[in-house]
Order: sequence, then C-alpha cells, then structure tokens
Amino acid sequence: MKLQDNLNLDNYWLPFTANKNFKANPKLLTSAEGMYYKTEDGREILDGIAGLWCTNAGHCHPKIVAAVQNQVAELDYATAFNVSHPKAFELAERVSELTPEGLDKIFYGNSGSEAVETALKVALAFHASRGEGQRTKFIGREKGYHGVNFGGVSVGGITPNRKSFGPLLPGVDHLPHTWNPEHMAFSKGQPDWGIHLADELEKILLLQDPSTVAAVIIEPVIGSGGVIVPPKGYLERIREICTKHNILLIFDEVITGFGRLGHPFAANRFSVKPDMICMAKGLTSAMIPMSAVAFDNSIYDQIMTAETPIELFHGYTYSGHPVACAAGLASLDVYEEDGLFENAQEMEPIFEEALHSLQGLNQVMDIRNIGLMGAVHFNSDGMPATEVAPKVFQHCYENDVLVRFSADYLVISPSLIVQADQIERIANALKKAINSVT
Ligand SMILES: Cc1ncc(COP(=O)(O)O)c(C=O)c1O
Repeated sequence: MKLQDNLNLDNYWLPFTANKNFKANPKLLTSAEGMYYKTEDGREILDGIAGLWCTNAGHCHPKIVAAVQNQVAELDYATAFNVSHPKAFELAERVSELTPEGLDKIFYGNSGSEAVETALKVALAFHASRGEGQRTKFIGREKGYHGVNFGGVSVGGITPNRKSFGPLLPGVDHLPHTWNPEHMAFSKGQPDWGIHLADELEKILLLQDPSTVAAVIIEPVIGSGGVIVPPKGYLERIREICTKHNILLIFDEVITGFGRLGHPFAANRFSVKPDMICMAKGLTSAMIPMSAVAFDNSIYDQIMTAETPIELFHGYTYSGHPVACAAGLASLDVYEEDGLFENAQEMEPIFEEALHSLQGLNQVMDIRNIGLMGAVHFNSDGMPATEVAPKVFQHCYENDVLVRFSADYLVISPSLIVQADQIERIANALKKAINSVT
C-alpha cells in the first residue's frame, strides 16, 4: 500500500503548484541525505535543484542538524524586541564578514519575501530620514522575482504572479529584462551583448524624475525568471546610474547568496557593490527558515539619527530566531570547512559543459548558465514549449532525477556539494527526457 493511500490530501493547499494535478498524482518525499531524496516508495532521487536553490550544503548535513538539535533544546525562542541572545550577534558578524566591505548591518527576517519588504521599507525610511521624503518610487525589472508579498510582487516582473492581485504598490516602474535569444542564445556565462540595456534606467528616470526614486531592486542574475545572466558591464552601469542620482541599489541575492556563484555573493563575484543585499535560502542551507538584509553602514547610521526611541518601526516575531541563528552559524562553518564555495567554482565548468551538451536536441532554443545555476529553454517547433517543460520534468522524475520547470524552461541548480558524476547523471537524464518527449 502506498503512503498516499492513507493520507488525507484534501486540506493542504500547496503553494505555486497545480493542486488538482498534484493530488491526482502526488509526489511525496520522505527523507533526504546529501544530494538525494527518498520517496515514499523507496526510490532515491538525485536532487538537481538543491531543494529550491536553497540546501546549499546538501540535505541533512550532520553538523547543521546537530546545531539545530542542540539549540532547540537549549534556547527554543527569545523575543527579538528589547532583548536578544548571543547567536544573533555572532551570526550578524559572520555574515558581515562575507558581504562586500561596508555592508555590515544585518536585519533578520524569515523568508526571502520578508527580506525584500524590509529592504524596500528601509529605503523609504532612509530617504525620509534625510529630508528626501519625496523619494517614494521603486524600479524593478521584467522577469524579476522578489517573493510574494505586496512590495515584492510590485517590483517583480513575472506576469502571472502579479495579475490577480489588483493595482499593487503605486509608483513602480520596471527595467526591461536582458534576455534576447537572437543576440545571446547559448552564451556561456555572461553574454557579450546587452550592456546598452542598462541605459534604459536613464530613460525611466527621465520620465519618473530621478529625485522621486528611492531604490532600484534587481537580482544580479535573474533566477526564477529563467537564469538570465547579466550582460558584461550591465551591473556596473546600473550601479553608476544609481550613484549619479542618489538612488539606492538593492541586490536581491536570495538565490545568488552563499556560494551559488562560487563566491559569498554575486556582488563579490561581479565586483559591484550595492547598498543593500537581500539574502535567505543558503543562509541556513534551508534547514530552518531565515532571511536577512545587509545594509550599508551609512544607511544604518542615518536611520539611527531618529529622535524617536525606536529608530525603525519594523521587525518580525521570529527575527533572529535562536534555532535559525544556530543553523546559520553551522551552515557558514560547513561552507568554510568543507570548501563548498571552492567546490562550486571547480564544478562550474563541468556543469557548463554538461548543460551545453544539450544544444542541438529537438526544441532546445537556448541554454544559460553561471555558477551552479542553469536553464534549458524550449521553443514550440513541435509540441508547445509550455508542454515540453513539464513533460521533461516528469520524465526526469520518473528516472530519479529532480529538476524544476517553469513555463517553457527548466532550471537546474544542484547543491554546492555536487560532484562531476552527479552533474553527468543530471545531464543524461535531461537528454533522455528531451529525446523521449520531443
Ligand atoms: C530572488 C528571490 N527573492 C525573493 C524570493 C522569495 O523568497 P521566499 O520564497 O523565501 O519568500 C525568492 C524565492 O525564490 C527569490 O528567488
């Protein structure tokens, strides 16, 4: 008898999932270790997406498990309002050692979505505090994903995520995305074409009036929107324009933080320093939910000039939760002791070659990659592309490899512990699946 035969599937409403389809054919995972999940029927599935770009140290790393077990028995919870506990400070210090110089002030939340809301609110509070309360507008980017709360959806650029939810935040504009298959299909890493798209920011600012704009928020590499790698020089140009107009630049590094690009942050890899970095996922290797925003010291110092006793009226019941802090500290130890950012660097060319070996298969119209992030994009030269992607996903799953599909593309993002033979297995599963489906 299958586990699902005894399980009531009625009450749980799954997020971002075709619920009716899932409940007709549930995929249930019951345990995990390292690069693998176990399913309810005892199969071992190779996790090609690190949970959801988040189990950066692999599943159930014993050191993080032990840290969580010990912490939950020692101090389960401490309110973050007016009192605290040592690990919140220790983790903030450790994170600040990884962020670019000067981004040393760390504010905790529980999810990437909350990190984004925190960053947007602090941007407004910062400008108001220095007498520029007219700076209330935000600029996001097409295809950007910044979580699901109202601020994040407003600056986000994925149409289905926006369209059922009313007018969203006022005063938001969007940069064009940088994906153009005609000019950059099958680029490896950063495309040569597209730096001029950063100049669109100047055009938007001309229209919006730069003195009314609080912040620009972008993912340095677009993740959920399809692994869209910034063209060479693009991020540098965006930084220049923001600096010129005193507009804050927010990097949403919920995916790219903690080694996904072989460096602590994309900001380090690209040598572009934003004013704020949103992070989550790899912060605790997903073992306990946690997010944070790293702020430039000048932002913190400005907010601290407030004359009210509480300088910032913002925070969450679970900000800096002790168990999450313990998971965070252990994750950072593991990244260092196990050399996982270095492993990501070593695996990057192998991952790149493996993914690009799919070029030439039916209906594969583009392949994009950087670090341990990759996407395979389909066209509709046979079956509609939006049918190809879920079918390839299903075929891979039936053959014990988990990838992720979204609209007309697949994403692949293994944990930083991945080895060459596992990358090869993922690529072979994709090849077999694409050949069989198309
Ligand atoms: C870039 C980015 N920002 C924000 C989020 C939202 O994070 P969460 O789902 O933890 O709220 C995500 C989630 O994937 C993300 O990729």
